[in-house]
Amino acid sequence: MNQAASITWKSRWTFILAATGSAVGLGNIWKFPYITGENGGGAFVLVYLACILCIGIPVMIAEIMAGRAGRSNPIHSMLSLSRDAGGSRAWGVVGAVGMVAGLMTMMFYSVVAGWALEYVFQSASGSYSGAPAEEIEAHFGNLLSSDGQQFIWHSLFSLLTASVVAAGVTRGIGKAVEILMPLLLIFLLLLVGYSAINGNFKAGLHFMFDTDFSRLSGNAVLIAMGHAFFTLSLGMGAIMAYGAYFPGHASIGKTVLTIAALDTGIALMAGMAMFPLVFANDLTPGQGPGLMFVTLPIAFSNMSGGVFFGSLFFALVSIAALSSSISLIEPGVAWMEKRGWRRVPSTFLLGGIAWAGGVASIHYGAVFDALDYLTANIMLPIGGLLIALFVSWRLPRKVVLDETGMKGGPAFAAWYWLLRYIAPIGILIVFLHSLGLFSALGALF
Ligand code: PHE
Repeated sequence: MNQAASITWKSRWTFILAATGSAVGLGNIWKFPYITGENGGGAFVLVYLACILCIGIPVMIAEIMAGRAGRSNPIHSMLSLSRDAGGSRAWGVVGAVGMVAGLMTMMFYSVVAGWALEYVFQSASGSYSGAPAEEIEAHFGNLLSSDGQQFIWHSLFSLLTASVVAAGVTRGIGKAVEILMPLLLIFLLLLVGYSAINGNFKAGLHFMFDTDFSRLSGNAVLIAMGHAFFTLSLGMGAIMAYGAYFPGHASIGKTVLTIAALDTGIALMAGMAMFPLVFANDLTPGQGPGLMFVTLPIAFSNMSGGVFFGSLFFALVSIAALSSSISLIEPGVAWMEKRGWRRVPSTFLLGGIAWAGGVASIHYGAVFDALDYLTANIMLPIGGLLIALFVSWRLPRKVVLDETGMKGGPAFAAWYWLLRYIAPIGILIVFLHSLGLFSALGALF
């Protein structure tokens, strides 16, 4: 392999690692199983998968393309692409809103990541080893009712995130992800195996894959779509910011399919590890954000070597959360750098704002819920909608064709069509549906 080729390969690989690091996180392991539980299972999973395929994947390609073509932070990338296409400066707002959405997401993300850190310690000290299910359930409740405990772990996680971002995202984190991702995958596979043997596997699979659409509310469809954006880190510029490092001529399509497949696979495995344990231990699938923190410790508490495996698992989850949280702050920091600020003060300013918001969401559960709902279900889909419209309607087709590296052909045609029509219309329909507009219309006629 000549040198130029190896540099390109290396940077494409670096990109895949960074983007997968951003995508795979608490969204997959913590959030996906619990919202699946709350929204009735199979039908919800099916809508989520359809959203990944028809909306998430096309928007991800568009975001990477825009980042690579704009070669800058999301705001400046959008501004310069729009200027070249003779469009309005207003498109820069998409990047700006995304930056704010990133900080708002961090305000609850780091609280949950703090819980995961606390569980590393709980596991290592063997405090739930051999304990009955009720006691393990009570432990999560105790953590939630202790603001002081949550404050400490949230602050620690915020500091970790800021340190990585301050040092520069490309340094260090790539290596961590390279080792972590395969390890996390193996771990989840082992946990699914454990659940298959010791849990009620059949009931778990029925719950996750039987599609009973009568259990699907308009709001559940909105949550499924919002989660497709959240889990792939779309709609706020995280992936666009990373796209600026994507090598010049490599094709984006295959890369995105790889990332989406990994991300979806990990989420489904997390669900398949947890639900069989839920049914075997008479827990409620819809118990909410505590699902992961209750079911998995039950497994670890009964397993030989559970102290070791439990600590390692929660450490892996914490690192997966870290490689996601850095991409929540990075777009804003990159923007401030471009405006002449230095990286370290920018990081601590933005990180500090997110940290303060996190303290508020520890004290007020309603703040936590509102931030989660508003970012994932409203802001990210709107951001994604605007990016889809911008790339497919505002940029000249020829520029898009050149920049995706897809060389025309059926794959390009299919993507372009999904981005132009299906993704925007799909997002709008889901919004209208969740407002109850269709049932209102139905009642009218
Ligand atoms: N995708 C991350 C996860 O699943 C969360 C995230 C959302 C990260 C948006 C960056 C941007 O945990």
